[in-house]
Amino acid sequence: MEILNTKVAIIGSGPAGLLLGQLLYKAGIDHIIIEQRSSEYVAARIRAGILEQVSVDLLKQAGVDEHLNQHGLPHHGIEILTAGEKHRIDLSSLTHGKQVTVYGQTEVTKDLMAAREQAKLTTFYESNDVQIHDFYDKPHVTFTQNGQQYQVQCDFIAGCDGYHGVCRASVPQDKIKTFEKVYPFGWLGILADVPPVSDELIYVQSERGFALCSMRSTTRSRYYLQVPLTDKVEDWSDERFWDELKNRLDEQSRENLVTGPSIEKSIAPLRSFVTEPMRFGQLFLAGDAAHIVPPTGAKGLNLAASDIAYLSSALIEFYKENSSKGIDEYSEKCLKRVWKAERFSWWMTHLLHRFETESDFDLKIKQAELAYILGSEAGQTTLAENYVGLPYEIKNMDDLKQAS
Ligand code: APR
Ligand code: PHB
Repeated sequence: MEILNTKVAIIGSGPAGLLLGQLLYKAGIDHIIIEQRSSEYVAARIRAGILEQVSVDLLKQAGVDEHLNQHGLPHHGIEILTAGEKHRIDLSSLTHGKQVTVYGQTEVTKDLMAAREQAKLTTFYESNDVQIHDFYDKPHVTFTQNGQQYQVQCDFIAGCDGYHGVCRASVPQDKIKTFEKVYPFGWLGILADVPPVSDELIYVQSERGFALCSMRSTTRSRYYLQVPLTDKVEDWSDERFWDELKNRLDEQSRENLVTGPSIEKSIAPLRSFVTEPMRFGQLFLAGDAAHIVPPTGAKGLNLAASDIAYLSSALIEFYKENSSKGIDEYSEKCLKRVWKAERFSWWMTHLLHRFETESDFDLKIKQAELAYILGSEAGQTTLAENYVGLPYEIKNMDDLKQAS
């Protein structure tokens, strides 16, 4: 067994683990990442695509914004299509100039991996049997890679290993509480090298169910349809997908829609999930390991980023100022923001999707709520300020700025 020593052992190299690694590196704090998949698998995963301004700022602090600056598309508004009519939410004018950036999570991951490689930081890909031990006292991690056994002794373990990871599962049952809501439908998503139907995202509420027109660039589109959980990807030929999308769009968008062969097609279930607390002794949970949101509000990646902002700041405070204040406050601070994003994602999901169980009355109330939101500046502002991202304060942001 080979013994390794480090300050922070990060489990998982999704956006949360990679971003934490980069921020710790910038601050001169020793860490390693242990990932069960191959680097190729991690780099190829296709997921969300909208960054809040605070997430963009954090990537800048981490020094990985070059590609983002070149290829990210700033968006100042979104469209909501309901009853066959499009309504624009002017995000920027409703939020004192804030915006979001369209930039794929796949690209964020690749940029962070490239920065990591350039800095020659240690990542154990294709690790098997990853286990975390003794995190209330002397934390350590064991795993095997290529038949070699490793033990990592560390001060802290960062559980950035996603919803199905080992970290949350290792917490004793009586120390953790989880909150969950599973939705009775999924999103069928496709990626296609065709220009987007519109310059801005269109969120579609229709009698046939929800749809979303999104993009990755001016030449690559990402579209989603609400589908029953019983549907399989094989049930959906490209032709059937495009036909159904057209059925849910307004006439003008239908005419503008450019179709083409899909380069990816998958179905994702929708879930709301929160773990409390997010710290257990020297173990911290961050990102999808601690919470899941349905994708309707585009909050998943952004919440992972805000957890990491708090966690990196707390660890920097611990090592540079010998203070455990940030560490002690980590869970509470994260959860405040997490629950607000959970509420927003749940609300957007509720408002825009068809639920089989809803009565005619429920539907009328929902339509009235949507009409109110769209017809009132106060209503639109509520949506806009949540969509662009609620603010958070980070103690060591200046340290990070100096380091970058
Ligand atoms: N040991 C090591 N690594 C593991 C283990 C394990 N036992 N289990 C899971 N992992 C790895 C996964 O292979 C994955 O690479 O942890 C990583 C977790 O990454 P993500 O699932 O992308 O989670 P996170 O980094 O928190 O990113 C959150 O992903 O799902 C989206 O909407 C979500 O955008 C958000 C983002
Ligand atoms: C995406 O482009 O994948 C996307 C955009 C907005 C969402 C969800 C997903 O709300």
